[in-house]
Amino acid sequence: MAEGSSIPSSLESVETPVGLIDLRRVRANAERVARYCAEHDIKWRPHTKTHKTPEVARIECEAGARGLTVATPREAEVMATVCRDLLLAYPVVGAQKLARLMALDPSVKLSVALDSETVLDSLAQAAAAHQRQVDVLIELDLGSRRVGLETPEQLLKLARRTQELAGTRFSGVMFHVGHIGTGSNYDALIAQVASDLQRFLDALDAAGLRAEVVSGGNTPALWRSHEIPHLNEMRAGTYIFNDRDSVASGAATWNDVAYSVLATVVSVSVSGQAVIDAGSKALAKEALGHARGYGVVLGEDDAVVSGLSEEHGVIDLTTTSFRPKVGDRVRIVPNHVCVSVNLQDVLLAVDGTTHHTWPVLARGREAFRAGLR
Ligand SMILES: Cc1ncc(COP(=O)(O)O)c(C=O)c1O
Repeated sequence: MAEGSSIPSSLESVETPVGLIDLRRVRANAERVARYCAEHDIKWRPHTKTHKTPEVARIECEAGARGLTVATPREAEVMATVCRDLLLAYPVVGAQKLARLMALDPSVKLSVALDSETVLDSLAQAAAAHQRQVDVLIELDLGSRRVGLETPEQLLKLARRTQELAGTRFSGVMFHVGHIGTGSNYDALIAQVASDLQRFLDALDAAGLRAEVVSGGNTPALWRSHEIPHLNEMRAGTYIFNDRDSVASGAATWNDVAYSVLATVVSVSVSGQAVIDAGSKALAKEALGHARGYGVVLGEDDAVVSGLSEEHGVIDLTTTSFRPKVGDRVRIVPNHVCVSVNLQDVLLAVDGTTHHTWPVLARGREAFRAGLR
């Protein structure tokens, strides 16, 4: 059963729906991962796409993160105000995005992950033109079937080219184990990732090249990251707030869930259900494997949000004794927190009996505002 942490009285009349975070749990989540990484001698570089909020990134850095991961130029610009060691874990394509990266403060140590000569060449050219040195992590496909090179020969070719070009330096390899998650056979998949990775690293070794950085890690497989030999950098992101998927995957318990959407019950007129003011525009309509619905009520996790339209969320009451009334407030844990956070203007960060209002600053593209379109 999820334990609903208490919320301060100052939030009793706040307009809903709104994203809440419990700072006690956020700090505990960050500290737990910091301890794990220290214990296994892994550099911790959390992915900030989950919170997109500089104040939360600061909590991660204070807990021991030694770099941050970003996916967009906007995230890079915002996170550069918090940390001077950024990894853009996304192939940067397009002059506008490159220009924004190159405009980051020169004191920012920038690494970029990529998997093609096209991206490498344009990055190297931009870096050289801006007198920057960019560390390149070459992305490998170790089973997620998204981006990443498929063979050691491709890796060697791209690594050599990275070294040849002015402006870039071959720093290592990265991979995303997005195929390992709820319902996976973890033992088999981790063993497969480890042996596939070894083939790539052996090829580098034989060619006299070395991957200083071996970057991986996601939340579902977070606590098993050390079982992948040579992995020395970990990029989990979701762990900071957790969600229904984190609990389903076994990576977190309900008591580690730090994010919920505060919503108000607006109708109970149709029997067997309650309708809240948080729909797909607050919770995100993300499926969770074969599980029913799009989220659960915090503290009543058998009360499932079984349907969503844009501004309506339907809580199924047929499988629970929970009986909310119109005007009651509920807190919903979405299936996938990152997408829900991206729908919020601000996060209300609850700190004991008080709260802070933190804009989700790294959301959006901002290219138009920056005049760079
Ligand atoms: C490149 C990359 N690294 C790290 C992560 C973090 O994974 P998680 O959100 O499961 O913690 C993601 C997730 O999308 C990712 O795409």
